[in-house]
Amino acid sequence: MNHMTPSKKTSPNDDRRLALRIVTMPRDTNQYGTIFGGVILSYIDQASFVEARRHGVHRWVTASMDRVDFIAPVQLGDIVNFYTRTERLGTTSVTVLVDVEVQRYLTGATVAVTSASVAMVAVGPDCKPIPFASPPSVDGAGICPDPDPNPGNAPQKARP
Ligand SMILES: CC(C)(COP(=O)(O)OP(=O)(O)OC[C@H]1O[C@@H](n2cnc3c(N)ncnc32)[C@H](O)[C@@H]1OP(=O)(O)O)[C@@H](O)C(=O)NCCC(=O)NCCS
Repeated sequence: MNHMTPSKKTSPNDDRRLALRIVTMPRDTNQYGTIFGGVILSYIDQASFVEARRHGVHRWVTASMDRVDFIAPVQLGDIVNFYTRTERLGTTSVTVLVDVEVQRYLTGATVAVTSASVAMVAVGPDCKPIPFASPPSVDGAGICPDPDPNPGNAPQKARP
């Protein structure tokens, strides 16, 4: 192979997607200026929800989150990226792997912070598990519709 040709090697990260990106704020810090672990856990939960939603329009609840080890601190002003991939598809549940990486505000360096495996379960209106492959179980009741992106296509109203 021509050594100038980029190799097609796939990395284990190729199938993950960016579910959330946030900037840490003073309200998230402890008295030492680093971010509370629980704040990151909350975003892990939300990122898992974003990934689960890809598999069905339902109420999704968090059934479990496995052990979470923080290997580097998150600092004030860091940009925190939450990457997700679906690890396992069950019947009513999906297991989502969340990788958390920061981009340091001062240097731009990327640092791995933690990973978590989160089990999300689709539940119906009665809060009982339902197969996530079933048709949407939540509707838009109470949600205002988006504006028509192509108003020119709307049928013209007859003017009085
Ligand atoms: C999660 C919950 C819906 C499971 O209800 P359940 O009646 O015990 O469910 P079942 O035993 O029938 O299991 C349903 C699915 O959930 C999975 N599951 C249940 N508990 C689990 C756990 N602790 N960890 C991982 N997966 C779990 C099962 O493996 C099953 O998956 P599958 O259908 O893909 O095979 C129920 O326990 C619940 O509502 N918990 C509270 C969730 C919540 O409110 N989270 C936010 C807390 S603030």
